[in-house]
Parts: sequence; structure tokens; C-alpha cells
Amino acid sequence: MPFEPSTPPASLPFTPAAQRVMPSTPLATTPSTPAPTNGAFEGAGPTTAEATPVTRRERQGSFGGSKKAKLLKPFNTANIKILLLENVNETAVSALRDQGYQVETYAKALAEDVLIEKIRDVHCVGIRSKTKLTKKVLDAAEKLGVIGCFCIGTNQVDLEHAAQKGIAVFNSPFSNSRSVAELVISEIVLLSRQLGDRNNEMHQGIWSKVSANCYEIRGKTLGIVGYGHIGSQLSVLAESMGMRVLFHDVVPLMPLGTSKQVNSLDELLENSDFVTLHVPETEETKNMIGEHELNKMKQGSFLINASRGTIVHIPALAKALRAGHLGGAAVDVFPKEPAANGKFFESELIGCPNTLLTPHIGGSTEEAQSMIGVEVSQALIKFINYGTSIGAVNFPEVDLRAIKDEENSIRLCYTHTNVPGVLLRITNILAEHNVDKQFSDSKGKIAYLMADISDVTPEQIQDIYRLVSETPTNIVTRVLY
Ligand SMILES: NC(=O)c1ccc[n+]([C@@H]2O[C@H](COP(=O)([O-])OP(=O)(O)OC[C@H]3O[C@@H](n4cnc5c(N)ncnc54)[C@H](O)[C@@H]3O)[C@@H](O)[C@H]2O)c1
Repeated sequence: MPFEPSTPPASLPFTPAAQRVMPSTPLATTPSTPAPTNGAFEGAGPTTAEATPVTRRERQGSFGGSKKAKLLKPFNTANIKILLLENVNETAVSALRDQGYQVETYAKALAEDVLIEKIRDVHCVGIRSKTKLTKKVLDAAEKLGVIGCFCIGTNQVDLEHAAQKGIAVFNSPFSNSRSVAELVISEIVLLSRQLGDRNNEMHQGIWSKVSANCYEIRGKTLGIVGYGHIGSQLSVLAESMGMRVLFHDVVPLMPLGTSKQVNSLDELLENSDFVTLHVPETEETKNMIGEHELNKMKQGSFLINASRGTIVHIPALAKALRAGHLGGAAVDVFPKEPAANGKFFESELIGCPNTLLTPHIGGSTEEAQSMIGVEVSQALIKFINYGTSIGAVNFPEVDLRAIKDEENSIRLCYTHTNVPGVLLRITNILAEHNVDKQFSDSKGKIAYLMADISDVTPEQIQDIYRLVSETPTNIVTRVLY
């Protein structure tokens, strides 16, 4: 039983509404089994939260602010069951175990029939890219409340169906930013010294000591397209190596160091010795660098793409390299990438001069994997313990600042269908109570409301829980206290 209070019968906040049983003593605070030592759950507060990489917005929410923040303790954590598949990083396993959750781990993805059996009883599942959480699999999960994708992509999960069942999905889009930035820095040096070609020649037994068209990068101009997580890190690294940095972004951004935002992509292309791409894949960025843009680049300049394969028109790039207009290129991402390791790679870029080709390894480091483990496990813990959905990919993002550390205050978390009139109904239920703060947001057909209510008796909590969970729009109701 998920989020079970110490005295049965338990509340079932991660169970479909139809099967839910009202907890008889939702405010019982002494667990029936001794509470495990569990990191953030027992000792959480600003210190623990500050030790983990959180965004500025998160710091203002449940975990930040007053040292008197109440540690929400809605259930006996030992009852929370977590299934981690595909060798999820040890940082996540230990963070979740430290909470006192029951964590079962598997090194590989499970066959669908085994997965269906295993997922039936768990409150949280952690996967990487090989586990497919389809509608069929999700429908078998009777208690599932949250999914952690310990990777960047989330298309292995039926996100819409998960949201309709009140299941939030988290991933880790930015844990590998530093790894990408470091790869790009190395490529700037490698391209500038034609190292790819020299290395190939040496492996063929050819000694070719040349200095023509080989340069130091100090004093050269780096043009960064897309000044987000990766682009901005790169800006700092490049300046520390003596480069001048220009950047182009669709939004005006505070330049770091002495970098400078330019007015247009063309201006950046015309003035850069190295152009590196760090934009997302959107309709606007598809083939953003084609023949016209390559012609705008300086004679002998270099192009680096470690963003997404569709951003660059590959035939145009191959032509510019073979014609000698570009001095070289480094490409880590491709419009079509092989699904498995092996001799499957084909591209017009094979054999182009001074062209570094890598198999989408920009973010593939041990550190990034470890960071992904930390980031996703923290998101799962915050959602389970505090109701915070900031960073969810399929779910409205809601957070409240910490609940006051006083007795008889609760947090109501209400996932519901997004139809007119719901808030009025909830307001009527809470009308007689002291609602300290409340926030709700919607995403498509799903909405999520969090409300902190103080001065409530155990009987009133039971009433609130019953009335809210019985609303026709209810998907999942949880009371944290
Ligand atoms: N090679 C790898 O292994 C690897 C690893 C991680 C991320 N990536 C890719 O790197 C890219 C950047 O990632 P990030 O984390 O820095 O993203 P981000 O969202 O932090 O930053 C993207 C930036 O691009 C800007 N932008 C969007 N559209 C633009 C346009 N048309 N013109 C100019 N700027 C535009 C945005 O305003 C934003 O500042 C993404 O495509 C991501 O998928 C690749």
C-alpha cells in the first residue's frame, strides 16, 4: 500500500481512485516499524537540498527557505516500492535506499511479461532507454505514481497515458551539459591542428609533419548558436582558453564573461572562426545550417555539431568540406543514427578532410551517468515525499514553498482532469479551513493542485481526503503531513 500511514488501513495515494480506501488515522506519526535513517526525509532541509544540483526556482520551493521547514512524513517510507531497471546508476540506488524505500534493481531491461508482473505492485519505476512503458504495461501497474527516466529521452514511455493515470514522468535533460561542453572544447583544438587526419595517417604508417593551416585557438573567435545549458558552459571554457566568444540565441540573454550576443545568425557565421551548434530540435532549427549558411561562414573556418542531427544539412556540409571552403568539421549527431552498436554507420561525411565523426557520445561520460542518477532520484524523492512536480515532462509543474513546521498542517496534492468548475469544488471543500497557500496548473487534459492547510484535526483531514478523492474529476489525491 503506497504512502501508508503507520496505523492501518492505509491511504492509497498512488492507487486508482476506485480502489482507494480512506485512511482511518492519517495523522498517526509513529511508524509501526522503526523509521529508517533516510537522508532528505528525516534530515532534509536547506542543507541537504543545497548539496544537490537544483535550479533557482526549486530552491524557492518545498526544499528551500526557512530552516523551520516541516519535514513531510506522509507514510512509512519502508512501504514504498521502487523498481530500477537497466543498471540505473548507483548514485540513484543509494539515494532512494537512504529514504528507506524498498528498492529492487535489475541490470537489464525485463521482457514485457516479466515487466508487467513486476510493475503491478510498485509505486515508482526507474528505467533507461530500452524499457518500453506502453499503455499495456502502464495499465498493469496498480500503484504506480511516478516514473524516472534515467536518461535524456522519454519517448520510450507513453507520456500521455501516464499523465491520464496521474503518473508523473521525470528525466534528466541537463546532467550531461558539462560533458558535451568539454568534448566541444577538445574538438576545437583537434580541428585547429588537423589532428583527426594526422591520427588516421599515423595508423596507416604515414609520417606527415606539417604546420601549414594549423593554428593555436588563442585569440580566435568562437560563435555559439544556442546559449543554453551547454552553450553558456562552453562560453566560459572557451574564454578561459583565450578565445573571443560571440553567441546567437532567439532570446536576449545575459552574456557570461566578455562574450557578446550578436543580432543575427548571419552576423555570427560571418565573424566566427569556429561555429558550434547547441540548439534544440524544432521546426525552426531543422536544416538551420544549409548551403546558404555554410557560404556565409569564413573561408577555412570550422563547424561543430553536437546538438541534434537534423540541424545541419549533411550533403551541403560534405560539399563545403570537400570544396575546401570549410577547414574542417566535428559531427557527433546525425539525422539517422544506428539503433545499435556495430558496423551500421553510413554518411556522406565519411572520408571528408579534417572531419571528426563521433557516435553521439557528447554526453556519454561516467560523470554524466552519475549526475543523471542524482538528478532523477532527487526529482522522484521530491515528488513522492513533497508532491513537487517541477521538471516533470508530462505533468503540470507545481511546487509550493516549504510547509510550516507546526503540528496539524497538511499538504493536499490533487491530480485531476482539467475541466471547468474543479477549483470551485475544491474551494468549497476547503472553505472552512485555513489554506496557507495553494497553486494549481494544467497541462492538456491533466491538472495538478497543491494546497497547504494548517490547523486541521485528524477528523478534518479525513474529511478533506474523502471529499476531495470523491470528486468526479479525481485521478489521484494524496495528503502529506
Ligand atoms: N551530443 C550529445 O550527446 C548531446 C547531449 C546533451 C544535449 N544535446 C543536445 O544539445 C542541444 C542543446 O542542449 P542544451 O541542454 O544546451 O539546451 P538548452 O535548452 O539549455 O539551450 C538551447 C538554447 O537554444 C536556444 N534556441 C532555441 N531555438 C533557437 C534558434 N532557432 N536559434 C537560436 N537559438 C535557439 C534556446 O533559447 C536556448 O537558449 C540540444 O539539441 C540537445 O538535444 C546533445
